[in-house]
Amino acid sequence: MKHCDNFVVSEKKFLNSTFFKLKLKAKENLPLIKAGQFVEVQVNSDSKVLLRRPISINDVDSQTNEISLIIQTVGQGTKELAKINEGEEINLVYPLGNGFNIEGENPLLVGGGVGIAPLLYLAKNFHAKGIKPKVLLGFRSQEQMIDLKEYEKYADVYISTQDGSVGSKGLVTENEIFTQSYDTIYTCGPTPMMRAISDYSLKNNIKCYASLENKMACGIGACLCCVQNTTEGHKCTCTEGPVFNVKDIIW
Ligand SMILES: Cc1cc2nc3c(=O)[nH]c(=O)nc-3n(C[C@H](O)[C@H](O)[C@H](O)COP(=O)(O)OP(=O)(O)OC[C@H]3O[C@@H](n4cnc5c(N)ncnc54)[C@H](O)[C@@H]3O)c2cc1C
Ligand code: FES
Repeated sequence: MKHCDNFVVSEKKFLNSTFFKLKLKAKENLPLIKAGQFVEVQVNSDSKVLLRRPISINDVDSQTNEISLIIQTVGQGTKELAKINEGEEINLVYPLGNGFNIEGENPLLVGGGVGIAPLLYLAKNFHAKGIKPKVLLGFRSQEQMIDLKEYEKYADVYISTQDGSVGSKGLVTENEIFTQSYDTIYTCGPTPMMRAISDYSLKNNIKCYASLENKMACGIGACLCCVQNTTEGHKCTCTEGPVFNVKDIIW
């Protein structure tokens, strides 16, 4: 069931020059939320931004009734969101999308840029099942990185940067972690990265799920602006995704 509720900003933290994290406290008990699901955030009603913005759920704390979001400022909507202060309220429609199924005993999670956001809660879910996943995170440079302590609580973390300022130099697909074997790969990030990981997994016969970030408007299957071409026809990324088995995606 979808909810439309006001949350209170309990914490706001800048993680680097363009990423910030919001901890949002619900007024009621949170419903069950799957890793990979997202929220549609209402941008300040005084601004000219009418459409809500889709943002992945980064973490859920059902003890404190808080969810976390990591947001990258890219345009008007996210710049407006960056102005919100602790103690203020924000309206969310949630939880949206299908989310990740927790499958496999030996998973690899690969995120690029702000696509690392949903992988924290996914790693936490694996950890709760007694599995410590490997997580590979890709950034353009050290300047784009965030503090990884939260990820290290639940996973073995590996880093790639394009300029080699931290971790392995080059694309995530060039990281030596790919010399090891996995039974399932989960990925979220820029389309060329997810496509390369999809090609790798199909070639090596590894089950792989990608969380797509197609542009969205309504977030509930009404406007069809988020359709993705798949082997089973066009699918709404907001309701039938954002997570797809890569064997079904026509990129
Ligand atoms: C399911 C889903 C989960 C997402 N999770 C996160 C998240 O956890 N954190 C986060 O920061 N962002 C996330 N995004 C992307 C985020 O929704 C967009 O960056 C945001 O809507 C841009 O709004 P804006 O008004 O700031 O920018 P706009 O003015 O709308 O656009 C500014 C620039 O961003 C690009 N852009 C807009 N929408 C997207 C998009 N969906 N994907 C890629 N580029 C886009 C535009 O092409 C343009 O170049 C997610 C998107 C989806 C669909
Ligand atoms: S965003 Fe409107 S149908 Fe998906």
